[in-house]
Amino acid sequence: PVIDTLAGRHQQEQALARQLGIAHCTLVPGDSSLPSGTLTGLAQATKRVLADQLPIGASTIAVMGGHTLAAVAAGLTPALSTQRQLLFVPARGGIGEAPEIQANAVSAQMAQRTNGQFRALYVPEQLNTATYKSLFAEPAIHDVLQLIAHSNVVIHGIGEASAMAKRRNMAPDVVADLNAAHAVGEAFGYFFDAAGHVVRKFPPIGLDIADLAAKPLVIAVAGGSEKGAAIQAYMHLAPAQTWLITDQGAADFVLKK
Ligand code: BG6
Repeated sequence: PVIDTLAGRHQQEQALARQLGIAHCTLVPGDSSLPSGTLTGLAQATKRVLADQLPIGASTIAVMGGHTLAAVAAGLTPALSTQRQLLFVPARGGIGEAPEIQANAVSAQMAQRTNGQFRALYVPEQLNTATYKSLFAEPAIHDVLQLIAHSNVVIHGIGEASAMAKRRNMAPDVVADLNAAHAVGEAFGYFFDAAGHVVRKFPPIGLDIADLAAKPLVIAVAGGSEKGAAIQAYMHLAPAQTWLITDQGAADFVLKK
């Protein structure tokens, strides 16, 4: 019966949140890692959580990139802007992604879908420190960094370490280091092991994991059995108010332990 299923899911959401040490979990059916899996359930659930949790009035929403976040963006609608003024910004500068799943593209798409506003952050990768410093001083960049720093909402993905290293074309010696250090996951440019120890940081610019503690609403969207270990590991670093939106494939990994 439907009631039993809903009650069962609710119990699992609570068990998951407890086990991961975070405030809330939303669980959707399916396993997005399977060839037949999709990101639609995660995207729809994220839309519902945003509709319920975004404050009335003005919000600045910092978003990361990735396929999951791109799917979330594609599922948003103008209804989200009812009684709200939404400004979307990328949470961080370029970290070597294909253009269509970069944080800039995701925030632009979210703004377009919700009739909101967005500001892009164009910063090349792998610059030396002096160049970064002078870029920070550029008004166009400085202004967007200020908006990111003062964002009240963050929406981000979590990646599996080797998949992210490959996708970002990391050098073989860097990949070897990540393997040697048993990196299992990645978020915000940080690679970490199963215990949540940061093993490598690729810090371009923008929001840092440490900045998340001060954000009232932090939503992590990640699912699939292949990301189970990465999601569990990241939650050692995540701020306590994190709201995880995940699927059964990832939840089974966490709850079976
Ligand atoms: C990247 C983010 O764009 O997407 C990462 O920079 C995140 O921090 C990753 O881990 C997740 O990607 P996907 O495609 O698995 O949703």
